[in-house]
Amino acid sequence: MTTRLHLICLLLLNGSRGVESFTRSGLANSIQGRAGNAATTLFGVRSAVRRVRDSVLSRERTDKDLKDGIAFFYDRSSKLWEDVWGEHMHHGYYIPEDRTDHVQAQIDLIDEVLKWAGVDEGEPPKRVVDVGCGIGGSSRHIVRKYEGSTAQGITLSPYQANRGNELAREQGVSDKASFQVADALNMPFEDNAFDLAWSLESGEHMPDKKKFVNELMRVVAPGGRIIIVTWCHRDLERGEPSLSRKEEKILAKINRAYYLPKWCSVDDYVKLLEKEGAVNIKREDWSYIIAPFWKAVIKSSLNMKSVVGLLKSGFSTIRGAYAMLLMLKGFNSGVIKFGLITCTKKGE
Ligand SMILES: C[S@@+](CC[C@H](N)C(=O)[O-])C[C@H]1O[C@@H](n2cnc3c(N)ncnc32)[C@H](O)[C@@H]1O
Repeated sequence: MTTRLHLICLLLLNGSRGVESFTRSGLANSIQGRAGNAATTLFGVRSAVRRVRDSVLSRERTDKDLKDGIAFFYDRSSKLWEDVWGEHMHHGYYIPEDRTDHVQAQIDLIDEVLKWAGVDEGEPPKRVVDVGCGIGGSSRHIVRKYEGSTAQGITLSPYQANRGNELAREQGVSDKASFQVADALNMPFEDNAFDLAWSLESGEHMPDKKKFVNELMRVVAPGGRIIIVTWCHRDLERGEPSLSRKEEKILAKINRAYYLPKWCSVDDYVKLLEKEGAVNIKREDWSYIIAPFWKAVIKSSLNMKSVVGLLKSGFSTIRGAYAMLLMLKGFNSGVIKFGLITCTKKGE
C-alpha cells in the first residue's frame, strides 16, 4: 500500500518521465508492473473526479462518453427495471387517467401509437426495425400482432440485446424477433430494408438528430413508415431564440442522469424529416396521456424490493431515480413534451 502511494506521488511529481527513469534502472521489471497499476489507479481517480465535477456542474458529455454511458447505464439498470416493471421500458397510455394496470398501459401505448400512425389501416408491416429496442418488448409485441412480420432490434447495451433474444426464445418468437448491439446513427442494415422503422423513446439519446433521421429514412423502403415517439422540449415561439435558462437547467440535470445530449423540439424533427423528403408527416403531443406515469414509477420505486435493487445497481441508477422528480417537474412546467411523429418515405 505504502509502495503504491509512493509510486503515485512519484508519478505526480515526475509525470511520465518518472516511469521512464524507473524502466531504465535495475528495478525496472519488478517495478514496471506496479507503476502501471499506479498509473491506472491515478487515471481512475482522475476520471472519477472529472465525472463528479461534470455531474455537479451538469456538463454536457462528449458523443463518445455518451455512447459508452448509455450502454453502461442500460447494462446496469435493465434488470431492476424488468423486475419491477416488466419488459417494456417506456411510458404507459393513461386513458382513463386513473388506471393502475401499468404494464397493460405500456402495451396499450404501443397499440395506440400504431393505430394513431395508421399502421392498422394499410397492409400490415412485414419487416420492422426497432431502433433503440431496450429488451425488445415492442418487437415481440409487434411480431405477435401482425402475422407474418419479423422484427430486428438494435440497442447499445449488450445486456439488453442478450436479454431480448433470451425472452424471444422463452416466448417462442425467436424465429421472428432478434436483437443485436448496433448504433442507430450507423445501422448495420441495407438501404430500403424495412416497411416500418419504430423508435420508441430512444430518439432523446441521439446526439445527432439529423443523422438519426437520415438513417431512419435510409433503411425504410419507399412507401414505408417511420414512427418516432420521443421526449422533446416544447416548440419555441416565433422569434424566441432558445429555452429560458431555468428550463435549460432542468434539462441539463436530466441529461446527466439519463445520458442524454441536447434536446430538440417536435418542430425540429418535422423540419429534418421535410428536408429528407418525407411525406404524410403527422405529429401530436401526448404529454397529457402519459402524465400519470412518472408518479406511478416514483411510487413503485419506494417499495422495499426496488430500494434494495436500486442500492445494488449503483450510483448511475440511483441518480436516474432522483431524476424522475425532475422529469415530473419538466412535464408539469410544460418544457418537456411527449412527442409523436410519423411519416412515410416517398414511394417510387
Ligand atoms: C428508454 S430505452 C427504450 C427501450 C424500448 N424502445 C422500449 O420502449 O422498451 C432507450 C433505448 O435506446 C437505446 N439507444 C440509445 N442510443 C442508441 C443508439 N445510438 N443506438 C442504438 N440504440 C440506442 C438504448 O440502448 C435503450 O435500449
